[in-house]
Amino acid sequence: MDNKSLSQLKEWFTGYVQTFKSNDTEIQENINLKQDHTLRVCQEIICVGKQLGLPEDALQLAEAIALLHDIGRFEQYARYRTFMDGRSENHAELGIKVLLKHEVLKQLDDEIRDLILCAIKYHNRPSLPPEETDRCLFFSRILRDADKLDIWKVVIDHYYRRNSESNTAIELHLPDTPGFSKEVGRDLLNQRIVDMNHIKNLNDFKLLQMGWIFDINFKPTFDCIRERRYIELIQDVLPQTKEYLALFDSVYKFCHEHNFAN
Ligand SMILES: [Fe+2]
Repeated sequence: MDNKSLSQLKEWFTGYVQTFKSNDTEIQENINLKQDHTLRVCQEIICVGKQLGLPEDALQLAEAIALLHDIGRFEQYARYRTFMDGRSENHAELGIKVLLKHEVLKQLDDEIRDLILCAIKYHNRPSLPPEETDRCLFFSRILRDADKLDIWKVVIDHYYRRNSESNTAIELHLPDTPGFSKEVGRDLLNQRIVDMNHIKNLNDFKLLQMGWIFDINFKPTFDCIRERRYIELIQDVLPQTKEYLALFDSVYKFCHEHNFAN
């Protein structure tokens, strides 16, 4: 990927997002939320990529992947007024359809185009398919790390915002009821990604977000999470009863094993 191609993609992205502009404040806020998220994921992926020592062309490809990874979110919100894939459609697949329909990647080499589409396709999967090429898996992994770094920021900002009015698009319409689901607890105790199907309330959702740590791929991402205290900040917005502490222990144990803790 060269500078010119990346600039063209950025220009297209800005113009495309403009087409979703709305006078309705709630709609516009949700469009802004995804646009801002995208631009920050671009920064995160460059930051992780640089620390991994990627050469310039790979950094530019990584940035293009980050720029386009959530392109399906705009059409998804316009059509269904939700960011819940389960209540609408898979936003990664939708994004690929959007890119093909608008012929956004037409001027790129086949290999580059395939890498972009592959990373987008896999960015929201519970796990990566083993049969893909190393390059496809590498760019999928770095995107998944960068994406999580920013989603953590968004949800944590939301939990700590003063006079926090609930944004149903962030909280996915979940009830703020006491306790957590047994299955969510089991996933965390087994140090595995929480299954989205187990999410019943806001506590489950916060625990799921803690569990993203089990899916982090690169050391620079771990370093960022530690420096920003993401795990601790989520812990602090959950109850501190014995049942929860057992789950936090499991998460911190994983962090220590991955050379994460101070
Ligand atoms: Fe994203």
